[in-house]
Amino acid sequence: MASISLIQGASRGIGLEFCRHLLRKSSDGIVIATCRSPDSASHLKDLQKSHHERLQLCQLDVQNESHIQNVAKYVNEQFGRLDLLVNTAGMLHPSGRGETSLKDVSFEGLKTTFETNTFGPLMMAKYFSPLLIKGSGCFGQQAVEVKNRHAAILVNMSAKVGSITENKLGGWYSYRMSKVALNMATRNLSIELGRGRNRVICVALHPGTVDTDLSRPYNTNIIKLFSAEYSVNCLMAVIDSLKIEDSGQFLTYDRTQMPF
Ligand SMILES: NC(=O)c1ccc[n+]([C@@H]2O[C@H](COP(=O)([O-])OP(=O)(O)OC[C@H]3O[C@@H](n4cnc5c(N)ncnc54)[C@H](OP(=O)(O)O)[C@@H]3O)[C@@H](O)[C@H]2O)c1
Repeated sequence: MASISLIQGASRGIGLEFCRHLLRKSSDGIVIATCRSPDSASHLKDLQKSHHERLQLCQLDVQNESHIQNVAKYVNEQFGRLDLLVNTAGMLHPSGRGETSLKDVSFEGLKTTFETNTFGPLMMAKYFSPLLIKGSGCFGQQAVEVKNRHAAILVNMSAKVGSITENKLGGWYSYRMSKVALNMATRNLSIELGRGRNRVICVALHPGTVDTDLSRPYNTNIIKLFSAEYSVNCLMAVIDSLKIEDSGQFLTYDRTQMPF
């Protein structure tokens, strides 16, 4: 059975690389790539030229509930299930730079960052969970016991800076807080979607520091700066290794468990 994956926030960076990786990974898997402006997503449109049948582009601004509903309805009508959902859309701050101190904090910055990084992924889970529980279980490692098998995997792209334990530097109020709350949402989802016969593995993943538009203002002196391709290779290896008992965890690209 061909896999059905949805990458939310696929126009650039890590999300775009997930699409490339999944199209390479199998010759028949379907990838639904969502982004705010499909018409101007030139990299996705180029990718679609060589994978016309298997890459579907849908408009989805993760701050817009009716966009989320519409895409969920479309996926239901076309496929009736979803095997993998990766929420990658994210922002440091609408200004492109995290707050360095309290003077930079604004309601508007907090609101937009939370809507994109936290509320959006949770609303995605709300509308796509009925499709995830019908998943074919083709990603991750299935348990031997039938009662512990999983139907699908939901990934929320988190960040190490969303670990309260690891926070020794401060700053980046909006981004850090939005990822802490995303981690809590992921744990909650693992509990709610871990009940019943059709379980969904839910994890928060840290991709490493990756050379993308998001990290560019800060990544000049980073020793371990990953390409998006390297990061996604590692993240997919983690996803492929997931078992039901991993659900609710916050894991890094090398499968280290991050403290919350
Ligand atoms: N890069 C890193 O070092 C790093 C480290 C830790 C965690 N992360 C996390 O990894 C994820 C991906 O980041 P990235 O580095 O790939 O960033 P990026 O290259 O800046 O890409 C961000 C993506 O989010 C999309 N997006 C932003 N707001 C959106 C909205 N309202 N609706 C739909 N899509 C929206 C952007 O779409 P548009 O093209 O429409 O703007 C773009 O596709 C984020 O969640 C980030 O927090 C990244």
